[in-house]
Amino acid sequence: STYVIIMAGGVGTRFWPFSRTSYPKQFHDVLGTGRTLLQQTADRFDGVCPPENIFIVTSSLYKDLCQQQLPQLTDDQILCEPVARNTAPCIAYACYKIAQRDPQANIVVAPADHIILKEEEFKKTIRTALNATAGQDILVTLGIQPSRPDTGYGYIQYLFDPSEIKRVKTFTEKPNLELAQQFLDSGEFVWNAGIFVWNVQAIITAFEKYLPDVAEIFAEGNDVYYTDREEAFIDKAYSLTKSISIDNGVMERADNVHVVLSDFGWSDLGTWKSLYEVSDKNGDQNVVDGHVMLYDTKNCIIKTPKDRLVAINGLDGFIVAEYDNVLMICRKEDEQKVKNFVADAKEKG
Ligand code: GDD
Ligand code: MG
Repeated sequence: STYVIIMAGGVGTRFWPFSRTSYPKQFHDVLGTGRTLLQQTADRFDGVCPPENIFIVTSSLYKDLCQQQLPQLTDDQILCEPVARNTAPCIAYACYKIAQRDPQANIVVAPADHIILKEEEFKKTIRTALNATAGQDILVTLGIQPSRPDTGYGYIQYLFDPSEIKRVKTFTEKPNLELAQQFLDSGEFVWNAGIFVWNVQAIITAFEKYLPDVAEIFAEGNDVYYTDREEAFIDKAYSLTKSISIDNGVMERADNVHVVLSDFGWSDLGTWKSLYEVSDKNGDQNVVDGHVMLYDTKNCIIKTPKDRLVAINGLDGFIVAEYDNVLMICRKEDEQKVKNFVADAKEKG
C-alpha cells in the first residue's frame, strides 16, 4: 500500500528570524490560512494514503510540536532524530522502517515546508507517479517549470518523450549561477520539487548502491524497528551516519531517475523573497502582515507582531521582519545573506 514520509527536521535558516531553531518555519502558519505548513502538508495527502501510513521524520526537539499540530497521528508515526544529518539518513530511517512492515510499500517523500496551491492537480500528479513506481525499479521526482536561475534548487535534465514519466538524463543539485543560467536557457531542464516517489525496494537498492554505508547502518535495525530498542538503536545509527542530502547522495548518481512534469502552484517557502512572490500585494507592491503605517514605501515584505505599531518611511525592496526578540531589516536582493546573520546571532547568544 501507499505511505507518505514528511520530512520536517530542517531549521529553515534563510527564513530567520521567523524561522528559528526552536520553532522552524514548517510549524508556523506562514500564509495566515489557519493551518501551519506541516498541517497543510499532511492535509494534502488526504485520500492518497490511509492516515496511519503517514510518517513524520523530525528532530526529537520538535516531537511535541508535531504531536500538537497533528493530533490524529500516533506516537509511533513521528520518527525522531537525535541530530540532523540532512535528508538521506532521514529518508533511509523511514524507508527501512516501513520496509520491515510492508516490503511492497509504495512511498511518497515530501518536505514539510512547501506550499501547493492546486491541490487536485497535485493529487493527480502523485497518483500518476505512484502508478508508475508500483511495479518498477525507478526513482521518480516531480519537476517544476523554472522561472529564474535560482541556485537554491536541483536541476533536472530530461529526455523529451510523450510519456508522462520521463527519463532523466542529468540531475544537478544547487548549481552555481552561471550553470543555472545555462540550464534555464537550454530549455531542457526543470527544477526538482524535492518530492519523491518510489517503491521501498527501489530506494533500498539505490541506498545500497550509492550510499552503502548509510544502507548498512539502517538495515541493521531490521529487528529493532517497532520495538522499545528502536530509540537507542537510532541514537547510535545517527552518531555513525554521515550527513548528506538525498539529492547529492542518491539522485545525482542514480541512473534510473524519472520525472513527472508538474504544475500545481508549487513554491518552496525557502526564503523571504519566495514568500513575497506568492503573497497578495497591496497597491504599492508591498506584502504586509502586521500593524503598520507605510509612507513612500514599495516592493517590501513586512511581517511584524500585531501588537506593535510600526511606521515606515521611504523603503523600497526591503524585508522587515520581527519575531520574538529579533528584528531584521534587509534588502530583498541580499536575502541569501540571512544565513550569515543567523550564524553571527548565534555567536552573540
Ligand atoms: N527530518 C529531517 N532531518 N528533515 C530534514 C533534514 C534533516 O536532517 N534536513 C532537511 N530536512 C527537511 C526540511 O525541513 C525540508 O522539509 C526538506 O527536508 C528539504 O530540505 P531543505 O533543506 O529545505 O532542502 P532544499 O530546499 O535546500 O533543497 C531541496 O529542495 C529543493 C526544492 O525545494 C532539494 O531537494 C532540491 O533539489 C530541491 O530543488
Ligand atoms: Mg527547502
